[in-house]
Amino acid sequence: MADIDFQRLGNSGLIVSSIGLGCNNFGRLGTATETQDGTNAVIDAAVDAGVTLLDTADIYGAERGLSETLMGNALKGKRDRIVLATKFGMDMAGSNGPDWNARGSRRYIRLAVEASLTRLQTDWIDLYQLHRPDENTPIEETLATLDDLITEGKIRYIGHSNLAGWQIAEAEFTARLHGHPKFISSQNEYSLLVRDAEDEVLPAVNAYGLGFLPFFPLYNGLFTGKFTRDGGPADSRIMRSRSHLLEQAPWDLIERYEAFCAERGVTMLAATFAWLLAQPGLTSVIAGATRPEQIVANADAATAWHPTPDDVAWISDLFA
Ligand SMILES: NC(=O)c1ccc[n+]([C@@H]2O[C@H](COP(=O)([O-])OP(=O)(O)OC[C@H]3O[C@@H](n4cnc5c(N)ncnc54)[C@H](OP(=O)(O)O)[C@@H]3O)[C@@H](O)[C@H]2O)c1
Repeated sequence: MADIDFQRLGNSGLIVSSIGLGCNNFGRLGTATETQDGTNAVIDAAVDAGVTLLDTADIYGAERGLSETLMGNALKGKRDRIVLATKFGMDMAGSNGPDWNARGSRRYIRLAVEASLTRLQTDWIDLYQLHRPDENTPIEETLATLDDLITEGKIRYIGHSNLAGWQIAEAEFTARLHGHPKFISSQNEYSLLVRDAEDEVLPAVNAYGLGFLPFFPLYNGLFTGKFTRDGGPADSRIMRSRSHLLEQAPWDLIERYEAFCAERGVTMLAATFAWLLAQPGLTSVIAGATRPEQIVANADAATAWHPTPDDVAWISDLFA
């Protein structure tokens, strides 16, 4: 078992591993985790390594709901050992009935949560996240509905994703005003190459004591060290379907980063995890994994290097 750190997610009693497992490639066509066996292998390895936080969404998978369905099967007998996070609010193409683009509404959330609980084969969701802002529903209605679900024991804590800084502040003060449980976490895109969250989102997250969960933390795998400006493994997501990320990457900077890591005797993977975990408010790196050895490597990498503040600043400045 890797030597993993555990932290409170935001200002809550929910304790999560600092390395999580992103589950959006379960049921994704063309990956080793397309199948039940492939998903089982990654989840088993994660649990054995001591990773507790598993992050999915109702929409993930080649068909909507498939990631949750595969996870429900894989987690039989293991449910108590993990912190299960899922999301609602993206377009489920009618599988939760007509939604009139109001997927933060009382009517919709009730349908969405029951569908996720069924697919996940569990009685409760540890962290239930609003996947994206709903412009058609007042946030007060969303919070009131989630409050009821917490009271009923169907969900334990609530988080949000893809909210702007002002929306995070609005949600916080709406919860305070009406006495509802607050969102404890914010999930937004953040990596060495996508730093927009530093402008408004991370200041709001830190001002209100939320935990931050970065998505695409390895920039779709680019910062695992397995790519060069000439390419990478043919079975990787980037080579298979996102080669533009490789073509557009700032290779001069990445090669300087590689040299910096080599001088310190650390892998790019370990340096990237260390840089992410050094950011204030960032609680758990929910990188995805398509093979058991990847999640094991990520769990090891998360504690492999303890950079100085100067190291962290150098990396930040390089990709600023
Ligand atoms: N809230 C949102 O709107 C939103 C949006 C997107 C994602 N997310 C969440 O964020 C999570 C993370 O994002 P992501 O998985 O798409 O991107 P990521 O963490 O940046 O990249 C993960 C990919 O990198 C490769 N990889 C990971 N560890 C590796 C290792 N040790 N060695 C070699 N390759 C490795 C794997 O792909 P290959 O094997 O194919 O190279 C893996 O699928 C998702 O699973 C999901 O839970 C949320």
